[in-house]
Amino acid sequence: MNAIQIMKEEHTYIKRMLKVLRQACLNILEGQTVDYQLFTDSVDFIRNYADKYHHSKEEDVLFKKMQEEIQDKDTLSAVQGMFIEHDFGRLFIYNLVKALDKVQAGDADAKVDIIGNAIPYTDLLTRHIDKEDNALYDFGVKALSDQIVEEVDILSKTIDDKPENIKQIQKYTNMVVDLEKRVGI
Ligand SMILES: [Fe+2]
Ligand SMILES: [Fe+2]
Repeated sequence: MNAIQIMKEEHTYIKRMLKVLRQACLNILEGQTVDYQLFTDSVDFIRNYADKYHHSKEEDVLFKKMQEEIQDKDTLSAVQGMFIEHDFGRLFIYNLVKALDKVQAGDADAKVDIIGNAIPYTDLLTRHIDKEDNALYDFGVKALSDQIVEEVDILSKTIDDKPENIKQIQKYTNMVVDLEKRVGI
């Protein structure tokens, strides 16, 4: 698989985790106690697999090459928009963790902040991934020269083949399957 195909496959795992997060919120609304471990594991996945691993490949490899090689202003602002959405996602997750801490400390009202940050995060990332899957990735490949696309593949493969990343990818893709069972989907 080339870099784009691999990143699209990573999106499938991220989207499954977004469904886990949504179901965990529905479970709270239906009266279940907040499953801290499930939320903590979801945040671990989001921060380390979706953000540190997947988003950094976009930011440091594909989008970086697009910014360096493509002059068109509309494309550059579309790429910039992706960076901004990654940052908004980080803010939602930061606030989600704060809300989890508050609820765990006895502030039951903060349950609304768990849901109020988790659901907008799932909405943001779902639309973000759709844009990448259906427009931006393919546009990038078409606009870049064959040589640069090959460089993107090589740089991405270097990241994917690091022993610590091979272990992490295995850990987090297994985690998705486990969390789906735990949340009841
Ligand atoms: Fe992205
Ligand atoms: Fe992505």
